Amino acid sequence: MTHYAFDHILNEEHRMIRDAAREFAAQEIAPVAREFDEAEKFPLETVRKMGEMGFMGIEVPEEYGGAGMDTLSYVLALEEIAKVDASHATIMSVNNSLFNYAILTFGTEEQKRKYITPVASGQAIGAYALTEPSSGSDAANMRTRAVREGDVYVLNGRKSWITSGPVADYVIVFAMTQPEKRHKGITAFIVEASWEGFIRGKQEEKMGIRASATSELGFENLRVPVANRLGEEGQGFKIAMTVLDAGRIGIAAQALGISEGAYEYARRYVQEREAFGKPIGEFQGTGFKIADMKMRIEAARSLLYNAALAKERAKTTGERFTLPASMAKLFASETAVYCTWAAVQIHGGMGYSKELPLERFYRDAKITEIYEGTSEIQRLVIARLETGLRLI
Ligand code: CAA
Repeated sequence: MTHYAFDHILNEEHRMIRDAAREFAAQEIAPVAREFDEAEKFPLETVRKMGEMGFMGIEVPEEYGGAGMDTLSYVLALEEIAKVDASHATIMSVNNSLFNYAILTFGTEEQKRKYITPVASGQAIGAYALTEPSSGSDAANMRTRAVREGDVYVLNGRKSWITSGPVADYVIVFAMTQPEKRHKGITAFIVEASWEGFIRGKQEEKMGIRASATSELGFENLRVPVANRLGEEGQGFKIAMTVLDAGRIGIAAQALGISEGAYEYARRYVQEREAFGKPIGEFQGTGFKIADMKMRIEAARSLLYNAALAKERAKTTGERFTLPASMAKLFASETAVYCTWAAVQIHGGMGYSKELPLERFYRDAKITEIYEGTSEIQRLVIARLETGLRLI
């Protein structure tokens, strides 16, 4: 597939990681993706191998066990993994852009060494716990409480829909320390799953990304040392939002990869498959779908790479990249749903069959419009930033 606008901005390192991820996806993930999807099984072995390849800490400096590369490298690698399997891409995205990024940006030197190093190398798995049974889009409305008692905080509460919850070794948990202050009373913590009072709920059964494990987490008088507070008391909501800006770039990369994976099948099929005595791509109803898929993919790529460059710049300027991140996430996720729908439609019965991965891509695409902020929340964020009005 030809990418027009962006090939010239890729340097040697970008091409190297993109090609390495492409090869890894073809050799290690493609052969097992269907099996893990069907069994709803977490692909621990490939996740460890991805860690060895450096894919679990692409932007993490080498001194903390990462690959020390830039945001564009991360996005390119994630896109390649998602072209083949969105579940592996989800696990990679949470480790890189929620867990590592949170600690890299807000953590102490000791926290970086202790927690990023094992996750960046694939030896451990990270998670990010914000959502609760009764607060989703209204994240500031959380009920989980953390009460300080000397040199520990005692945590009680429940988190839901936690990606990698059933397998995570370390979890970033957001809790209310001063409920009367509302969002300014939220604090972030790094919690170890082996600690007493850490309870994993049952694994959710999902429509898509079925190889990525999701569950509730519970905390019953869980004692978290003060040394494991991430940032300052009351800084938690800012941390949650800043980290989600990075996370949304990861989801946009995943969505772009899913779109491209589906598109490649469709582009080939319309040239090969014949109906009424000619290739189906010669029917406008089909050819126009190819045009729309290609255009939306390239537009999503523009928004995504632009967001990646904005995040890269922010490493030196400290500026926010909320707007480009939300636009990329919103457009790329809607592109993924469109492209997977169109690819299934073009393939007819073959698209609906499990013989091809298109039905899996179609199921997987939907989550990108939901997690890390629904499409409605992305529109709210964009409109608020553009108008200065408090859209709700
Ligand atoms: N960066 C830095 N600060 C930010 C910010 C950002 N992107 N967005 C908001 N803030 C700050 C604001 O500046 C404000 O600060 P002050 O109080 O100092 O002025 C503060 O946060 C509160 O902001 P708002 O008044 O805008 O907050 P709100 O309650 O109206 O919420 C929202 C805004 C955009 C709706 C937000 O709640 C949101 O993003 N909700 C969606 C939550 C979400 O994405 N959940 C996904 C769960 S994670 C997940 O899916 C992970 C997984 O497992 C894969």
